[in-house]
Amino acid sequence: MPHAKNEYDDIAEAYRDSKQLSFRKYLEEYSLFEMLREVQGKRVLDLACGEGFYTRKIKQAGAAGVTGVDISSEMIRLANAKEKDWPLGCQYINRDVAELETVESVDVVVAMYLLNYAKTKEELFRYCQVSYNVLRSGGRFVGVNDNVRNPPKGTVSFAKYGFEKECASSPKEGDVILYKFVNQDGKLFEFKNFYLTPETYQWAFQKAGFADFEWVDLVLAPVQQGNSFWDEFLSNPPLTSFMASKC
Ligand SMILES: C[S@@+](CC[C@H](N)C(=O)[O-])C[C@H]1O[C@@H](n2cnc3c(N)ncnc32)[C@H](O)[C@@H]1O
Repeated sequence: MPHAKNEYDDIAEAYRDSKQLSFRKYLEEYSLFEMLREVQGKRVLDLACGEGFYTRKIKQAGAAGVTGVDISSEMIRLANAKEKDWPLGCQYINRDVAELETVESVDVVVAMYLLNYAKTKEELFRYCQVSYNVLRSGGRFVGVNDNVRNPPKGTVSFAKYGFEKECASSPKEGDVILYKFVNQDGKLFEFKNFYLTPETYQWAFQKAGFADFEWVDLVLAPVQQGNSFWDEFLSNPPLTSFMASKC
């Protein structure tokens, strides 16, 4: 059954189009694939897959199977429409990750901006627990997230990269982090994330069973290294990667 209306239902196309911004390619995508390393032949679960941007890229990189899960029925509609136009063999499930029952075990779980939707430590734990349960032993959990190690104090402008980030001056657990985007075509849209402390992230991963959770700084694609355009982003990173594995 489709899920109740979600904030992304109204911004699904604008969010999809924001994937054209250059930081997506040179920082977000590059960092994800650096962490993924080899995906050839792997079974992958893409949690909070949105309209399937990375689901498709991972499948194209040679994964044996990729399933995307998202709470937004509009995001899943776009993902399925793309799969129909351009069949890659990706599967999509319209579900809240917290309610995901056991699916077949996978080699890799990807979460591109899922964890920063947890408003409480219990929700964060549940996302980590679902990820742990679905991984085979030796499997890996990787993703990109709001950089809770470096919350903005007030408004921080990353305007030249296409967005701004707003937050309380000393964020507390569950506080809203507001992202305001301007796409290349001038379209404005916004969405909310939620702040939880780095210590809460450590706690949630550990309680779920991951012994080796770590934050990993985003890496700039070699083709852009030395380009001073990226200095502000890299000296005050709004986003971060993470990885963990199941023993
Ligand atoms: C910032 S978008 C990222 C989409 C995609 N991972 C990407 O990088 O293009 C965040 C996505 O998380 C989804 N989401 C938020 N909470 C979720 C939950 N509890 N279960 C499943 N999806 C969720 C939203 O619907 C939205 O599509």
